[in-house]
Amino acid sequence: MTTHPALTPTRIRDTDLANRLAVAPMTRVSAAPDGTATPEMADYYRAYAAGGFGLLITEGTYTDTTHSQGYLNQPGLACDAHVNAWRPVTDAVHELGVPIVAQLMHAGALSQGNEYGFPTIAPSPVAPRGQMLEEYGGYGPWPTPREMTAADAEDVVDGFAAAAARARDAGFDGVEVHAANGYLLDQFLTTYTNTRDDEYGGDVANRILLTTRVLRRIRQAVPDLVLGVRLSQTKVNDFTYRWPGGAADAETIFAAVADSGVDYLHIASEGQDFIETARLSDGRTITALARDVSGLPVMANGGMHDVTQAADVLDGGHADLLSLGRGALANPDLPRKLSSDRDLEKFDHGMLSPMATISNARAWRARR
Ligand SMILES: Cc1cc2nc3c(=O)[nH]c(=O)nc-3n(C[C@H](O)[C@H](O)[C@H](O)COP(=O)(O)O)c2cc1C
Repeated sequence: MTTHPALTPTRIRDTDLANRLAVAPMTRVSAAPDGTATPEMADYYRAYAAGGFGLLITEGTYTDTTHSQGYLNQPGLACDAHVNAWRPVTDAVHELGVPIVAQLMHAGALSQGNEYGFPTIAPSPVAPRGQMLEEYGGYGPWPTPREMTAADAEDVVDGFAAAAARARDAGFDGVEVHAANGYLLDQFLTTYTNTRDDEYGGDVANRILLTTRVLRRIRQAVPDLVLGVRLSQTKVNDFTYRWPGGAADAETIFAAVADSGVDYLHIASEGQDFIETARLSDGRTITALARDVSGLPVMANGGMHDVTQAADVLDGGHADLLSLGRGALANPDLPRKLSSDRDLEKFDHGMLSPMATISNARAWRARR
């Protein structure tokens, strides 16, 4: 038996967690076309709970029936049918005593599939870098989005708050606002996708404003739910971006979200390892800085299936919790393996090919 530091209990607000290992949010494009969660998804999430994870965070879930959807077959929390369909998922996970948080996401310009037929909107009419993601059903360049009006921004805030209330009704223990990885809220935060000259554009304090408005409104709508926020420097369509003001920008951002009532901060590491995205030029890590500035639990991400790195991050005071994406896909029972010193399966990208669906991963397992 090992006593890896990730296996010690902790809590977020008043929610007890059996350990510090969370399943990272992972889009699986496996919902029904109308955005309802399926029995296959309930089985998928239940497997992580059975495997010993202390916390589950769902795939990015769209918030409204207008512009927020990012992918065809992405689940939503945008109507009553979505609430009813998530219920068996939250029940399955709760039967095993594990809390589950819904990640709420507005895709903005990075939408490559919208069931409701709406065009993309974003802070500014800037075509996204790169190409649509084929593993999530896209192909070719993203369209240039329409610039959002102030009324559109209000609609986005309302959409997030209403989706958070639906998450509560569906039995979720909390919500995590997706302000990372290049989606709408991160498009506001990023200098090259936000060229606005109103209150949402300009310096970093303005660029984080839409995120903090979303968080405050959710806090009001669902005071009893755990509320988290996910932030990142890198994006699904740009692994090189770093906050231009470095540690100073990070401090402004972390203070602003902490002041908006969040219970935890989740720092994503899209496309790169933790240490590549987290290290600041002065030698500190961005996650340790987030802890210092916010005084809140901070979740680190990026290659935490390297259990030595995972231990160093926790023991070194760089984070309180760890989220695992690829490591969890390859090892839905990773915490159980870690506690009994068993080897971990290596992640194989074939699991997500040709698309990142749950059924393709199951077929990949059956072929081995
Ligand atoms: C299949 C897949 C889907 C993902 N979907 C999301 C998502 O919906 N929301 C999100 O914030 N990050 C998403 N990510 C990013 C992961 O949460 C995580 O940040 C990334 O995989 C790095 O962590 P890892 O090294 O543990 O895999 C996804 C990653 C994968 C592999």
